[in-house]
Amino acid sequence: MGFWKNLFNGTGGTAIATADSALGVSTQVIGEAANPRAKAGIESRITFRKDRNIDLYELEELCDAVGWSRRPLRKVKKAIEHSFLVVTMWEVRGNYRRMVGFSRATSDHAFNATIWDVVIHPDFQSRGLGKALMQNIVRELRREDISNITLFADPQVVKFYQGLGFKPDPEGIKGMFWYPNSRY
Ligand SMILES: CC(C)(COP(=O)(O)OP(=O)(O)OC[C@H]1O[C@@H](n2cnc3c(N)ncnc32)[C@H](O)[C@@H]1OP(=O)(O)O)[C@@H](O)C(=O)NCCC(=O)NCCS
Repeated sequence: MGFWKNLFNGTGGTAIATADSALGVSTQVIGEAANPRAKAGIESRITFRKDRNIDLYELEELCDAVGWSRRPLRKVKKAIEHSFLVVTMWEVRGNYRRMVGFSRATSDHAFNATIWDVVIHPDFQSRGLGKALMQNIVRELRREDISNITLFADPQVVKFYQGLGFKPDPEGIKGMFWYPNSRY
């Protein structure tokens, strides 16, 4: 695991603010779930947060774990800084914490938001936590009165998002992409 880099101090939000004395950072816990990997006798929980106290190397490890291509960290840092909302999921055992889920959304702050980079560590998949992470980010966007929430689903996860109420191509609308090598 990479060293803790306190790159993003908490920004905005109405979440419950909690002082994290172990790390000396301010965290905003917005929800909790039972830890499906908790061992008997060890207090362990899953928390959802929307502060940006994110170790970029830890995030890179999480993305590596699901086989995503690496992206330049300076660009990842910029993308996080300029996102409207970032919701992360953590396994917490005493002072130990580990990021096990990540998601973020960009927005025009009024009508539209698009969710990006939804990921759950493989050790924690298939236990309802991806659904909980998505419910958290959608709830936070709804709290900001954003009503048009979109995302781009990889083919193998279309059903996952459908199960959460997302509709592919509503009324025949197609997502369209322009790439640098496109002809126009
Ligand atoms: C996609 C991902 C976030 C799902 O997280 P998860 O924690 O495994 O999902 P959950 O356990 O919360 O599943 C919730 C529901 O979706 C279903 N589901 C999960 N992944 C699914 C998939 N790939 N296809 C179809 N259904 C899926 C589950 O069966 C469950 O159904 P239920 O509510 O009827 O029981 C996770 O598998 C992941 O990080 N994958 C790699 C990264 C990725 O592909 N991200 C999406 C990029 S667009």
